[in-house]
Amino acid sequence: MADKIRWRCPSNIALVKYWGKRPNQIPANASLSMTLENSFTDIILTTGEKKKHGIELEYFFDGRPNEKFRQRVLIYLEENRRYFPFLNTRSIRIDSTNSFPHSTGIASSASAFGALSLALLTASGYTKADFYRQASFLARLGSGSACRSLFPDFALWGKLPGNAKSSDEYAIAVGTVHPDFYDWQDAILIVDDSPKKVSSSAGHLLMEGHFFAESRYRQANQHCQRMLDVIKYGDLEQFVTIIEQEALALHAMMMTSENYYLLIKPGTVLAIEAVMNFRKESKIPICFTLDAGPNVHIIYPGQYSGVVHAFLEDQMKAEVKRIIFDHIGKGPKKLTC
Ligand code: DP6
Repeated sequence: MADKIRWRCPSNIALVKYWGKRPNQIPANASLSMTLENSFTDIILTTGEKKKHGIELEYFFDGRPNEKFRQRVLIYLEENRRYFPFLNTRSIRIDSTNSFPHSTGIASSASAFGALSLALLTASGYTKADFYRQASFLARLGSGSACRSLFPDFALWGKLPGNAKSSDEYAIAVGTVHPDFYDWQDAILIVDDSPKKVSSSAGHLLMEGHFFAESRYRQANQHCQRMLDVIKYGDLEQFVTIIEQEALALHAMMMTSENYYLLIKPGTVLAIEAVMNFRKESKIPICFTLDAGPNVHIIYPGQYSGVVHAFLEDQMKAEVKRIIFDHIGKGPKKLTC
C-alpha cells in the first residue's frame, strides 16, 4: 500500500552569514536568517512496498525523473540511514517542485532539504514535541543553511556564548520579534542567472586556513548577538548596518581567500550603490544583502513597498533580468496530498 506525505518548506535569506564549517556540517560561526514565504519547495513523499535490497529511491523534479537530485538525496539517506529505519522495509518516491526558478540566488538546497527532512521525519512516525528541532537537525546534515528554514520569522543557528538554547546542531526560532520587523520584504534582483563559478561547498572549504578566518568568525558571532537584541528591542539603523556589513564581509572572504574569486558583477555594484543612495535621500531603512552569488536581495519594511517598487522600477529595471518579490514568512506547512 502506498502512503503519501506532503510538506512545503520555504527558503531563507541569511542576514548574518554562515561561511566556513567543520566536519559533519558544524558551522564555524553562528548565523541568523529571515524565513521567506513565496520561495518554497513542495515535496510529496510516497512510500511503497520494497522489492530490492538497499535504499529504493525514485526522484522526480517538476514531474520528470532527476538523476542529479536522486544521487544527492541517496548519499544523504545512506549517510543518515539510522534516523530513518522505515527505509529498511519501504521504498520511497520523492516528487519535488520549487516555486522559484533555478539559479536565482534563492537557496533551493535550503528549502529542499527543509521539506525533505520534514517529510522523512513524518514518514518515520516521529511525533515528539521537538519535531521542528529534529527536522532542523536532519536538514542541517543535508545543507547547513537548510536548518534555518524550519521556523517562522527569524532563525538562529550556531552556539552563542550565553545563549543556552542555541546549538551548532540545529537552528532555533529567534522568538520575540519587535513590531518594527513584522512585515519585512525581500525583493530579489536577478542580475545574472548563469550557474555559479564556485559552489558554496567549495567556498566553505576555502575558509580553512583563510588569513582572516578567525576574525571573521568572531565578527559573525558578535553580529548574531547584536542582531538578537535588535530584533527583540527594535533598532532599524543597527539592523540595516549589520545586514550590509555581513553581505560585504562574505564577499570579502571570497575575494581574499588563497584561491580568490569574485562573484559580484557590475550590476551587483550598481544595485548596491543605488540602494545606499536611495536610503540616504529617502531616509527609508532599506538595505541590501548578497548570498554566494551576484544577485541582490533588497530588504525593506512593507510599509514602504509603494515607494520602493517605484524606485526599483525607475532605477533597477534596466539593470536586472527580473525581480522576485518575497517577504518574511511563517515557516513550513504540512499540506494535504
Ligand atoms: C552564502 O548552506 O549552501 O548562503 O552547508 O555546504 O550546503 P552547505 O552550504 P550552504 O551555504 C550557504 C552559504 C550562504 C550563507 C548562509 O546562508 O548563511
